[in-house]
Amino acid sequence: MPEGSPQRLIVAIDTPDLARAASLARSVEAHCGLFKLGLEFFLANGPAGVREISGRPIFLDLKLHDIPNTVAGGIRSILPLAPRMVTLHAAGGGAMIQAAREAAEAAGTDRPMLLAVTVLTSLDAADLDATGVRDDPASQALRLARIALSAGADGLVCSPLEVAMLRRELGAAAKLVVPGIRPAGSAIGDQARTMSPEEAVKLGADWIVVGRPITDAPDPAAAAAAIAARI
Ligand code: C5P
Repeated sequence: MPEGSPQRLIVAIDTPDLARAASLARSVEAHCGLFKLGLEFFLANGPAGVREISGRPIFLDLKLHDIPNTVAGGIRSILPLAPRMVTLHAAGGGAMIQAAREAAEAAGTDRPMLLAVTVLTSLDAADLDATGVRDDPASQALRLARIALSAGADGLVCSPLEVAMLRRELGAAAKLVVPGIRPAGSAIGDQARTMSPEEAVKLGADWIVVGRPITDAPDPAAAAAAIAARI
């Protein structure tokens, strides 16, 4: 469990613009535990871009999903960047997660934490049904979560709607990282289901991920500080 409130806050820096990302990082670094860089940033700026973002440890949200050998190679390729967290799709299967874990172990005690993504929050029961999955999204998320954790994932990225259920079903050891967070009064944007920072932590989130409510705020540092103070 991270100590102190700012440690629980992960700021999602979603921009392809390296200068803007670096400037945002500088302005919020005192008020968060990690910076999350995802596909939008990574595909535009690559590993060299990641090295330009300093001040807090990096969560690389790359949602890896491929055959085990390829995902293991991907993990080895990012180890020199020393990310604190990396995401991969639980739907890739237990062997893929296990291969990723073995590759990550090469970094020893500084290895990245592996976080599994279960059912994308953009998918509903009808979307799952169309792919042959008859269960509801929550049951499927729990099934994928168990596969991922037993294969060596350290935790999960999960929606605010799932955090209480997953904490109850999986116990204290599973790390839960929760996006879809909106402080009272901020714009929901394209997030269909949101929760306040304090509620998510109360229900069992180890970390919360907040992007636009901080990065689009007139004063990102003040916005991050206000959220950190509530968790
Ligand atoms: O701007 P906002 O706070 O909505 O950003 C949330 C971040 O969390 C984005 O980087 C988004 O890709 C990520 N995320 C999410 N929902 C998920 C998984 C990841 O919003 N289910």
